[in-house]
Amino acid sequence: MDYRDLSLIVESNKTKPGSVGWRSPSNLAIIKYWGKHGVQLPRNPSISFTLETACTNTWIDYKPKSSIDPNVSLDFFFNDQSNEDFKAKVHKFLSGLTEIFPFLKQLHLTIRSTNSFPHSAGIASSASSMSALALCLCSMEKNLFGTLQKASEFKQKASYLARLGSGSACRSIYGGMAIWGVTSEVASASNEYAVPFTELNEVFKTYHDDILIISKGEKSVSSRAGHELMDSNIYAQNRYEQARQRFRALLSALKTGDIEAFGKIAEAEALALHALMLLSNPPFMLLKPNTVAAIEKVQQFRNDTRLPLYFSLDAGPNLHLLYPENIQPDVKRFIDNELIQFCENKQYIQDKVGSGPIEL
Ligand code: DP6
Repeated sequence: MDYRDLSLIVESNKTKPGSVGWRSPSNLAIIKYWGKHGVQLPRNPSISFTLETACTNTWIDYKPKSSIDPNVSLDFFFNDQSNEDFKAKVHKFLSGLTEIFPFLKQLHLTIRSTNSFPHSAGIASSASSMSALALCLCSMEKNLFGTLQKASEFKQKASYLARLGSGSACRSIYGGMAIWGVTSEVASASNEYAVPFTELNEVFKTYHDDILIISKGEKSVSSRAGHELMDSNIYAQNRYEQARQRFRALLSALKTGDIEAFGKIAEAEALALHALMLLSNPPFMLLKPNTVAAIEKVQQFRNDTRLPLYFSLDAGPNLHLLYPENIQPDVKRFIDNELIQFCENKQYIQDKVGSGPIEL
């Protein structure tokens, strides 16, 4: 896939200022992407639930530059406050896209962003923020040049761009579940962008993912650094093979609606991700004592009640609780009575499978 396009330049004197906006969700991987190579290419296929509640809203106001300047020019506001850290990140990302979008050098951008979840909740926001930004860029291209009219082309390009910003972000472009990474199971799957998983059993379309906020603190090791440590992890090759095998098994559970098989794989993947961190050189640990305490409670609850409540983890201490719609009241009671003690400030987010980004 080569999206470089030198013809995407505007005629500055004829270009009117404009505005675009997208709301894009976060996602939770069931088969994890952990380890990459080249320009953000994954070592194994991954698949995730796109969430509904945990979202980023991003707006870009653009106008032709008043002076000639070869650099990308932007202002960045997070929650209406100018934010230099985010601005630097976005500037770096956009500066890497000028062969794909040469017009980025011709415009001044004012980017405003807000998250639907509390900023300090310790929830990874790169997937929602990078996908929202990528969708805005595609809307700008569409407005300025009349291209990307076909929804499928628009989404594929947005997913490709989101991937360059943060690997997992490419999957947030599609509602339901999305697959990223070549696999013999899905002919259309690619390492460069995600594709929607179209054979999802009904039971998973309304699946819940409640996120227990175990700790809001900044992570000691970023995902970026964690991926990098896979390059020297002596278990890496076995891990990639394990991910491929589990991917196949998971797909079959997702098609047939086998929630027990699904849950077992989800938990094994979450623990494998954190085991890989413990096996890195140098090793690191993102789990907290309360993560482990909550995991034990969940497993005990499942033994006692026989209800299909399973967990997953991202690259952090917060625990994701995965369960079908029909046991929602039981799980709510269980969280409020037994799990809330492990959450920082008793905080948790009730989320579920979502239908994907929305244009604002
Ligand atoms: C554990 O997508 O955050 O959430 O590509 O370096 O931005 P970068 O990493 P990122 O890694 C996410 C890792 C994960 C698993 C997953 O989402 O598949």
